[in-house]
Amino acid sequence: MFGIDGSAGCDFDCPVIRKRSNETISDGKYKWYHNEYGTTFGAKVLGEMITNTIDPENIKAVLATQFNDFDLGNRYEAFYPLFGDGIFTLDHQGWSRSRGLLRPQFSRQQVSDVTKLEPHVQNLIACLSRTPTESVDIQQLFYKMTMDTATEFLFGESVNSLQLTSAAEDIPEINRMSKEQITAVASSDGKQGVAYAFNYSQEVVAFRVMLQSWYWLMNPKKFRQSNAIVHRFVDYYIDKALDHLRQSVETKKHDEVVLSERYVFLDALVEETQNPKILRDQLLNILLAGRDSTAVLLSWIFYLLARHPRVFEKLRTEIIDTFGDVNSPGKKPINFETLKHATYLRHVLNEVLRLYPSVPQNFRVANKDTTLPRGGGADGKSPVLVRKGEKVFYTVFLMHRRKDLFGDDAEVFRPERWAEGNTWMWEYLPFNGGPRICLGQQYALTEAGYAVVRLLQEFDTLENKDLPEKEGVPSKRAWLTMSNANGVRVRLYKK
Ligand code: HEM
Repeated sequence: MFGIDGSAGCDFDCPVIRKRSNETISDGKYKWYHNEYGTTFGAKVLGEMITNTIDPENIKAVLATQFNDFDLGNRYEAFYPLFGDGIFTLDHQGWSRSRGLLRPQFSRQQVSDVTKLEPHVQNLIACLSRTPTESVDIQQLFYKMTMDTATEFLFGESVNSLQLTSAAEDIPEINRMSKEQITAVASSDGKQGVAYAFNYSQEVVAFRVMLQSWYWLMNPKKFRQSNAIVHRFVDYYIDKALDHLRQSVETKKHDEVVLSERYVFLDALVEETQNPKILRDQLLNILLAGRDSTAVLLSWIFYLLARHPRVFEKLRTEIIDTFGDVNSPGKKPINFETLKHATYLRHVLNEVLRLYPSVPQNFRVANKDTTLPRGGGADGKSPVLVRKGEKVFYTVFLMHRRKDLFGDDAEVFRPERWAEGNTWMWEYLPFNGGPRICLGQQYALTEAGYAVVRLLQEFDTLENKDLPEKEGVPSKRAWLTMSNANGVRVRLYKK
C-alpha cells in the first residue's frame, strides 16, 4: 500500500541511487518491500516521491490507457552523447515520427529472413567446437553473436567479432583495459574496437541513467572518445549508403538497385530520409534496443536448460523431430513460420522471458498530476495520486513471479505452464505494452529460436559448469538489461 516515508539515507534499496551491484531488484530488499507493502507503494527517496508497482492494472495505465500522462524522464539527456535523437530516447512528436519511420522496416518479410543468421551461428558453433572438453562462458559468446547479427542486419556488414574469438577467451571490458589499450582502440578503425567501444559507452550510459538528474557527472574523456569511434563506424556505412542511393538515382537504376539486393535496414532507411544525423541516431537506437536484450535472453535460456535436463531433452527431441539434425534433414526447413509453430520451443522462450525478462525494471515520469487506478486507500484498491514530475517504477521481474498471477510454482522454471490454457495479458510483459511496445519482438524471437535450434541440432549434451558456490539464486546484473553477473559457464558438445 501507499506511503512509506523513507528519507535520505534510509535503508531502502533505491533504484535511483543504487550503485553497480550484484544484489539487485530481483531477490533482495526490493522484493521484500513489495511483500511487505503490497503491489503498489510509494517511497520517498532523497526527498523525491517514487511510486513502485507490480500491479498489471497500474502498468497498463502507465504504458497504454494513460500513455499521454507519462514521459521517459531524463533518459534523453543520459543517452544523448551516444544515441542522440532516436526512437528509444524521444517522447511525444519526436518519438512518434521515429516510430513511423522505423515501423515499416520491421514488417514480417524483413525480419523473417533467417539465412543471414546462419554464418554467425556457424561462427558460434566453431567457437564451441574448438575446445569441446573445456567450459565456456556462453553469455560472452552470445553478446558477440548478437553484435555480429545486429550489425549485419542494420549496416549490411557484420563486425564479425566471433571470428576473432577462441572459445575459452574472456573479453576484457573496456573499462578494465589499460590507458594504452584504450588509446589503441580509439585510434583504430578496427571493427573489434567498435564492439569494445560500443560496450563501454553503453555501460557509461546505463550509469548516467542511474544517476538520474546527476547524469552529467558521468562524462569522462574515455566515454567521449569511445562515442566518437562508434559514430565514425556508423557514419562510414551511412556515407556508403547515401553514395549508393545518389549513384542509383543518377544512373536511373534506382528501382533495380533497391529491389534486387538483399534487405539491409540502412539501405531501406535512406529511402525515407537522407539526413545523416537522423540515420545515425536511429540506427544506434536500434542497435541498443536489440542487441543486449537478445543476448541475455539466449544466455538465460542456456543457464536454465543446463539446470533442467528434462526440459533440455524434451526440447531437443522436438527440434530433431521437426528440423532433423546435422546428418539427416527433418520434416521442415527452419524459417520464421516453422519456428513459430515449434510449440515447446515457444513455451521455453516464453518461460525464460517470464523468469528472466531482459528488461527487468523500467520507469516513467508523470508530465502532469494524474492517478493510477490501484494501490491507494486502506485496502489498496483505490486510485493513487502521482504528481507531475514524480516517477513510477514498474518491475516486471517481480510481477512475473507473483504467485497469485502465475500459481504457487511461479518461481519454478516450467515451460509446460504455457500449454495450460492461461491467457496472461498485462501480467506478462517482457516486450512492454501499449504504443511503445517493442518493435523488434518478432525479430528477437526468430533470432533466439533459430540459434537454439541450430545449437541443439549440432550438440546433444549440455552441462552446467558454474562453480558450486555460485549455485542457488543467480547473481544478476541489471543495468539497462539483466545479465548473469557471473557469466553462464557451460559445456556444450556432441557425445
Ligand atoms: C529478447 C529480446 C528483446 C526484448 C525482451 C525486448 C524488450 C523491449 C522492451 C521491454 C522495450 C520497451 C522499453 C521502454 O519503453 O522503455 C523495447 C523497446 C524497443 N525494442 Fe525491444 N526487445 C528485444 C529485442 C529487440 C530487437 C532485436 C529489436 C530490434 C532489432 C528491438 C527494438 C526495439 C525498439 C526499436 C524499441 C523502442 C520502441 C519504442 O519506444 O517505440 N527490440 N524492447
